[in-house]
Amino acid sequence: MQLLIIKGDLLMKNILVTGGAGYIGSHTCVELLQKGYGVIVVDNFDNSSPESLKRIEEITGKKVTVYEGDVRDGNLLDKIFSERKIDWVIHFAGLKAVGESCVKPIEYYNNNLYGTLVLTDTMRKHGCKKIVFSSSATVYGDPEILPLTEECKTGGTTNPYGTSKYFQEIMLEDIYKSDKEWTVVLLRYFNPVGAHESGMIGEDPKGIPNNLTPYISKVAIGELKEIGIFGNDYPTHDGTGVRDYIHVTDLAKGHVSAIEKINGNGVYTYNLGTGKGYSVLDVIRAFEKACGKKLPYAIKPRRAGDIAACYADASKAKKELGWTAELGIDEMCSSSWNWQKKNPEGYRR
Ligand code: NAD
Ligand code: UFG
Repeated sequence: MQLLIIKGDLLMKNILVTGGAGYIGSHTCVELLQKGYGVIVVDNFDNSSPESLKRIEEITGKKVTVYEGDVRDGNLLDKIFSERKIDWVIHFAGLKAVGESCVKPIEYYNNNLYGTLVLTDTMRKHGCKKIVFSSSATVYGDPEILPLTEECKTGGTTNPYGTSKYFQEIMLEDIYKSDKEWTVVLLRYFNPVGAHESGMIGEDPKGIPNNLTPYISKVAIGELKEIGIFGNDYPTHDGTGVRDYIHVTDLAKGHVSAIEKINGNGVYTYNLGTGKGYSVLDVIRAFEKACGKKLPYAIKPRRAGDIAACYADASKAKKELGWTAELGIDEMCSSSWNWQKKNPEGYRR
């Protein structure tokens, strides 16, 4: 049996997906499996449910190999790399709530920075030196110019979560500088939204959502009373904050493109966004169209740490990876609504 597994491993490219049960990870697993990759997930289910992994298997008809545990557990990672031939690692595992990171900076730096250190140390030990890292537009801080290109200044982050992303980028760059056998891909996501077209996997935040589209979904389903718009006095077309929302399926495909197109060692940095900015009011209107009802909202004070506008120049990813976002704001909202309607309690965790 073990021999058969190993033989299978040798025939296909295997990707270790840390945090693969989470929102972006689960969608990326689907795209990888559909492209014929072997998928191995390590997740401690801190912010996800094993149910998402079952659903990935249902959608694709393919098996996911799962190791339950923490990426900071060196023994577990050692076991995974000893048992499996791993060609690339896609590193999603981490904590991601901006507000919570200000209350729990130690937990955030421990999980995000230490997790990346244990992972890269184990990768080095086993001679696997290809990593795709989930970075964020947050590393640009408050943009000096728009749209943001990969050359724009980074740093100036305003919360421990953002700073942890900035530090992780620097750590990975330093690892490459010390050993030119590494391939490091830094993918800077803009605002991931939406859900898989099947409505079987999607974003499942714990408690009251912090992010805009999950909050709107909960208002649309009747679980929350009204949307609070954090400020309508920004220098934007309607005064509300503007962001570059990207469909999670497009984002997931960006990871597959990176693995397929990047050939050669180095540090490769890409913005994954659509290049279009939508305001909070634009998103509410698009969601109203998707769910077919008026959604109540109220203007609230600005949220601390928010910036007026942020959107990508995504031309580098198009030129070098052949990747471009295909789905628009209407698909983002209709797929979120489809997921919400089919799973009013998420994965029921
Ligand atoms: P998520 O919370 O849904 O997924 C993260 C997954 O990692 C979860 O399944 C969680 O249980 C797991 N995890 C956390 N710490 C772990 C640990 N120490 N060991 C093992 N598993 C662990 O978040 P997401 O939205 O899918 O984000 C994935 C990555 O993308 C994160 O690194 C996040 O910072 C980054 N990112 C997200 C956004 C966004 O808006 N969603 C934007 C930019 C970047
Ligand atoms: N907003 C509201 N009301 C809400 C929630 C959000 O008006 O209830 C507004 C915000 O003020 C902002 C926009 O909607 O103008 C988007 O806010 P989100 O919280 O959805 O997203 P952010 O742009 O603040 O941040 C997100 C992730 C970060 C990530 C960043 C860039 O939360 O982790 O995108 O990728 F770094």
